[in-house]
Amino acid sequence: MTQPVPHPGWPARLAWGPVELHPLRRRDAVEWSRLRIANEDWLRPWEPTTSQAWAVRHSPQAYRAMRRAIARRARVGTSVPFAIRVEGRLAGQVTVDNVVRGALRAGFLGYWIDREVAGRGMASLAVALVCDHAFGAVGLHRLQADIRPENARSQRLVERLGFTREGLLRRYLDIDGDWRDHQAWSLLAEDLPGGVLARWRETSGT
Ligand SMILES: CC(C)(COP(=O)(O)OP(=O)(O)OC[C@H]1O[C@@H](n2cnc3c(N)ncnc32)[C@H](O)[C@@H]1OP(=O)(O)O)[C@@H](O)C(=O)NCCC(=O)NCCS
Repeated sequence: MTQPVPHPGWPARLAWGPVELHPLRRRDAVEWSRLRIANEDWLRPWEPTTSQAWAVRHSPQAYRAMRRAIARRARVGTSVPFAIRVEGRLAGQVTVDNVVRGALRAGFLGYWIDREVAGRGMASLAVALVCDHAFGAVGLHRLQADIRPENARSQRLVERLGFTREGLLRRYLDIDGDWRDHQAWSLLAEDLPGGVLARWRETSGT
C-alpha cells in the first residue's frame, strides 16, 4: 500500500524569465545575512517585533537556525518556503505559511525582496508563481495576504495579481513594536481560471 503524501508540492523549484524559486539553501547564509542587514530600513516596518538587535537576528547563524526550523515545517506540510533568485542572485523570499488542510485548505503569504531589485515586477512575478503552485500541486483553495494599510507597494502587488480586499483586521499583528491594523487580501483557486502567472503577464505586457 502506498503511504499518504504528507506535503504534496514540496520540495519544488519554480522558474519563469529571470526569476527562480527554490527551497532555502545552506550555502546562502552569508548572502542572506548581507541582504537582510543592508535592507534594514526597507524591511523593519513590516517585520515582527523582536527584542533582538537586527544584526543578531539576521546573522548567518540566525539564517541557519531559521532554515532548519522552516525545513521542518515544510516537511510536515505547514509551510511552503521559497528563496527568490533574480538573474541567478539571491534577492528575497516568498513563503506560504500556516498551511491548514481539511475543509479550509488555506495558507498565508509572506514575501520580501531586496530594495536594489524592487520596482521591476520581480516580486509580483515570484508571488504569481507561488500562487499557481499553491493552487496546483500543493492543493490549496485560498491564499491570504495580510498587509498594513501603510504598505502601498505590497497592496498594489496583490491587487495587480487579482486578490480581493476583504476587510480590516484590527491591531492584528505585533509588527515593528506595536499591534498593527492589517488589510486582509485573498485569492481563491477559482478566481483566475487562466492562472496567476497569466494575469501577471497580461498586466506586464509580456
Ligand atoms: C512589497 C514588495 C515585495 C514589493 O516589491 P516590488 O519589487 O516593488 O514589487 P513589484 O515591482 O512587483 O510591484 C509593486 C507595485 O507597487 C507599485 N508601487 C511602487 N511604489 C509604490 C508606492 N510608493 N505606492 C504605491 N504603489 C507603488 C509599483 O508600480 C508596482 O505596481 P505595478 O505592478 O502596477 O506597476 C517590496 O516592496 C518589499 O520587499 N518591501 C518590504 C517587505 C514587505 O513589505 N513585504 C510585504 C509585507 S506584507
